[in-house]
Amino acid sequence: METCDIGVIGLAVMGQNLALNIERNGYRVAVYNRTAERTRQFLAEQASQKQIVGAETLAELAALLKRPRRVLMMVKAGNAVDQVIAELLPHLERGDILIDGGNSFYQDTERRSKELEAQGFLYLGMGISGGEEGALKGPSLMPSGHPAAYQALEGLLQAIAAKVDGEACVTYLGRGGGGHYVKMVHNGIEYADMQLIAETYDLLHRGLGLNAEQISRTFAAWNQEALNSYLIEITAHIFGVADPQSGAPLVEKILDVAEQKGTGKWTSEEALELGIPIPTLQAAVEARALSAQRATRLEVARTFGELSLAGAETAPLNVAALEQALYAAKVCSYAQGMSLLRQASKVYGYDFDLSEVARIWRGGCIIRARLLNDIRRAYQENPTLTNLILDPSFRQALTNAQTAWRQTIQHAIGKGIPVPALSASLAYFDSLRSERLPANLIQAQRDYFGAHTYQRIDQEGTFHTHWQANQS
Ligand code: 6PG
Repeated sequence: METCDIGVIGLAVMGQNLALNIERNGYRVAVYNRTAERTRQFLAEQASQKQIVGAETLAELAALLKRPRRVLMMVKAGNAVDQVIAELLPHLERGDILIDGGNSFYQDTERRSKELEAQGFLYLGMGISGGEEGALKGPSLMPSGHPAAYQALEGLLQAIAAKVDGEACVTYLGRGGGGHYVKMVHNGIEYADMQLIAETYDLLHRGLGLNAEQISRTFAAWNQEALNSYLIEITAHIFGVADPQSGAPLVEKILDVAEQKGTGKWTSEEALELGIPIPTLQAAVEARALSAQRATRLEVARTFGELSLAGAETAPLNVAALEQALYAAKVCSYAQGMSLLRQASKVYGYDFDLSEVARIWRGGCIIRARLLNDIRRAYQENPTLTNLILDPSFRQALTNAQTAWRQTIQHAIGKGIPVPALSASLAYFDSLRSERLPANLIQAQRDYFGAHTYQRIDQEGTFHTHWQANQS
């Protein structure tokens, strides 16, 4: 009976593909799904002739597993995870290992780790990125939790993870919820990457008048250069796909309402909580929310009609400038994510090695990109780098790209094409470059209306001024 190396609970596509990936790597897998029909179907189709055994109850699943048992939960984040844990625990023993591979909120993982460790179970929260294909062929894995649980699973995780230059895209991310924290920030960067690419598409299309085929070729060409990444690659493919019904590019038939499951919003909330600026990532979340207000947008568009923008364009635009702008904006968005991780590492004691985070994001996951090789190198050379853009090679890259980046944004403004994420990145860059920001005025205003006090540049201490009394 106890013949399986691991159990997988939840046979939606991610669970199915991970089970197949684990089996392909030489492990015997037991699978369970709440609806038994799905288990039967999976066994009869994708899993037929494979070392995969079905269980119709959680008791059966537990009985199929070698001890200590290893159970990977691939269920929807939220209450479903707590429910599965509650139903499963009576069938487990102390020392058994539970892994949550969903997109759980890191604080839930912190709580579950504590609760389960107190009962003698070993818990791992594991971010998994790479979508369906990654799950099957090799995802990026972001595990954290009990060190003994990681040790017991390290071989398996190394085997199923994506490989880049012979290295597996998995690393231990400390105790508690660090793995889900890193996955959350990954998704914040994912939102920013996608929004930056979407804005650039808008500029290529509405700004430069390129058609879908030309846009596809442009992204494909950029994918050979510094922008080489999974999302640029799939974007080039997307623009090459025709709608079977009309023959027009399919992407042009898709409703312009971006949905979200919440991970981007969590990243924004976390950044606000820790006081770490991530304007490009925030802009991406807000741009999705704005896209969802479609009825309002249609009404405003009708009300305003075509605006005359004559003379508003200040500079010519070309594809090469857009490539540089997209690259520079992308560097700034990764810099923001890394800064958030750096602060979380301090505040929550996760002790992240940022070069390791960059390393495991190089393959398998959605934000994999050539850029991550440079990010990894930057943190290897200087683990305490205050901000990624201070690394000498990124400093040089941004210096080289900034003129084209500014031209792009001026052009977008002139044409009335919204570029919230491209411009948020530039404002981030320019703000960080500014030895002096106008925040002195904000402090003066706060002190004026609320006696909130201020500090001075030339003296230690806290000051308050009776501004009205001092009016000349
Ligand atoms: C990944 C993705 C994956 C999922 C997103 C989608 O890394 O493989 O991030 O986990 O596609 O969570 O999120 P939204 O529905 O919020 O876009």
